[in-house]
Amino acid sequence: MQTSTEFEAMALKLGDTVPDFTADSTEGPIEFYKYIEGSWAILFSHPNDFTPVCTTELGAVGNFLPEFEKRGVKVIALSCNDVVSHKGWIGDIESYTPGAKVGYPILADPTRELAVKFGMLDPDEIDSKGIPLTARAVFIIGPDKKLKLSILYPATTGRNFHEVLRVIDSLQLTANFSVATPVNWNVGDKCMVIPSLSNEAATLKFPKGFETVEVPSGRSYIRLTPQPNVD
Ligand code: BEZ
Repeated sequence: MQTSTEFEAMALKLGDTVPDFTADSTEGPIEFYKYIEGSWAILFSHPNDFTPVCTTELGAVGNFLPEFEKRGVKVIALSCNDVVSHKGWIGDIESYTPGAKVGYPILADPTRELAVKFGMLDPDEIDSKGIPLTARAVFIIGPDKKLKLSILYPATTGRNFHEVLRVIDSLQLTANFSVATPVNWNVGDKCMVIPSLSNEAATLKFPKGFETVEVPSGRSYIRLTPQPNVD
């Protein structure tokens, strides 16, 4: 029997290199680093197979697969059960969400080894054996295998995968251009010139120009520019 300290999360921080692992999945054994090599990746976890909210989430991700592929993002799910259980569950997921195909691997983690490694456990959700379940974690990993974003939801709150795609758009944009994306930004909206860039450097970097918004403080820190990589 594992003690609660053995389940204590080793929280991954933004910028950390994510750990490598090998695990069984619905698509056969996965060597994580090999699987994600050179790509963006999303690893997202679930509390348990055959649970209602998880069933809706995995179906939604199935329908969004072309959107992840368009962005060059490898998709991997994790649930703390074995592959036999996962495979039995897929029929329910695809039946519940019209058109959905679970065309991505679901990792098996019946011992919670991976969930511990990635700090995905939710101490408030305990299974029938007294073991913490995984929370709804989302890890977006860059091609350099570093953690670019993490989101942690409790088991009782399903994620919004429109938001996950939106943050991937922002992460991929801001990785390549000296911009940041403002509140509720979506592809095509104006971006912010990052504060560390001087006006002179911004003039050179942004041929479409930028505007400085006047604010009561008189400071010139809000600088808007059209999204650099759209026409
Ligand atoms: C669910 O996926 O529906 C769920 C799982 C664990 C706790 C609460 C809800």
